[in-house]
Order: sequence, then structure tokens, then C-alpha cells
Amino acid sequence: MKLVKSLLLVTLALAAVGVQAKYNGEDRGRPVMPAEINAKMQAECSGCHMAFPPGLLPAASWKKVMTGLDKHFGTDASLSAADTKEITDYLVKYGSNRWTASTAPLRITESEWFKAKHLSGEISPAVWKRESVKSASNCMACHSGADKGDYNERNIHIPK
Ligand code: HEC
Ligand code: HEC
Repeated sequence: MKLVKSLLLVTLALAAVGVQAKYNGEDRGRPVMPAEINAKMQAECSGCHMAFPPGLLPAASWKKVMTGLDKHFGTDASLSAADTKEITDYLVKYGSNRWTASTAPLRITESEWFKAKHLSGEISPAVWKRESVKSASNCMACHSGADKGDYNERNIHIPK
């Protein structure tokens, strides 16, 4: 019993080290929607895709995204100065609390943690090209509770 316990502890410790190394400090932290909901963010950032939970990127990324809204991934998503500031403050406040890298990707899908979870193994390359998925940014295609910050394994369904 004692041996089983210590083996378990060693395995857990190794797993923790592995996770650290794999993401190179790019760690999403809390993926859930914060208890404090910002109505403006929900309204203005959900027109073209779901409103992404802020914990998926570090504060520095959100600042970059929010200062480039007029040239937002090929579209113009610009807002008034007041709305931009309110939404930026909210996203920055709840950005990833575990990001130790100095990197600040513009996309969640470009981050090391995202690639480690999605682009190695399990999901075949063809899946990303399906009409039902289209883009890796389309989290809702596979995580039905993504807009609520639910990425639980139990609620993942890869569409046909
Ligand atoms: C006018 C449409 C539009 C609006 C409004 C909009 N976006 Fe986007 N956003 C896009 C498009 C298009 C993409 C690229 C999607 C893709 O590559 O499939 C994108 C991608 C993103 C990504 C990167 C997703 C990834 O690939 O990891 C983030 C982060 C993001 N948007 C944040 C925001 C925030 C924050 C707001 C609100 C201030 C917002 N967006 C409002 C159109 C919009
Ligand atoms: C094509 C389907 C698909 C799409 C699209 C997708 N995911 Fe995933 N995601 C998965 C699968 C499958 C896993 C489980 C991978 C594993 O654990 O090995 C996963 C795992 C995750 C996890 C880790 C859950 C955990 O606790 O380990 C998070 C967080 C996540 N995805 C967020 C996102 C976000 C954010 C987006 C959109 C920007 C997204 N995913 C788009 C299929 C998808």
C-alpha cells in the first residue's frame, strides 16, 4: 500500500514537471469564465465568434488584441474608446494567472498549451479541415460548453 502510494506521488510529480516543460511557460491558467461577467465584452466580442474566456491568454496578449481591433484578423472590430477601455481592463484583470513566458501570442490557437493539447496526437489533421470545424478558433465545434469556459473532457465531441 505504501509502495503504491509513493509510486503514485512520483508519477504525479513527473506529470507536473512534464506539463511545465511542454508548454514553455505558456499556460492558460483558469479557462473558466470569471464569476464577474462583463456585459460589454459578452455583447461586443461574440458577434463573429464566441466571447473567449479571458484566462486563455495572458494580459499582454489581450492588450495587443485590444489595441489592434481595427485590423482584427482581417476584419474591423473597432469600438468606442470607452468600450475598448472597459473590455481591455476586464480581459487584463482575468488573463491567465499561470503564464510565466514573456511571449504574448495574438491567438489562443498559437499558444504552446493549445498546440500541446490539440496538435499532437488524438485529433487527426483531417478533422481541422472539416466543414463542421473549419477553424481551430471555432472552439464550440468540439467543446459544447466553450462559451461558458467548460473544456471538460466529458463534454468534448468531435463533429463528423
Ligand atoms: C467583426 C467580427 C469580429 C468581432 C466583432 C470580434 N472578432 Fe475576434 N476574430 C474575428 C475573426 C474573423 C477571427 C479569426 C478567426 C479564425 O481564424 O478562424 C477572430 C479571432 C479572434 C481571436 C483569436 C482566436 C484564435 O485563433 O485563437 C481572439 C483572441 C479574438 N478574436 C478576440 C476578440 C475580442 C476580445 C473581441 C471583442 C473586443 C473580438 N474578438 C471581436 C472577428 C471578430
Ligand atoms: C476539433 C475539435 C476541437 C476544437 C475546434 C477545439 N478543441 Fe480543445 N480539445 C479538443 C480535444 C479532443 C481535447 C482533449 C485533448 C487531450 O486532453 O489530449 C481538447 C482539450 C482542450 C483543453 C484542455 C482540457 C483539459 O483540462 O485538459 C482546453 C482548455 C481546450 N481544449 C480549449 C480549446 C479552445 C479555447 C478552443 C478554441 C480556441 C478549442 N479548444 C478548440 C478538441 C477541440
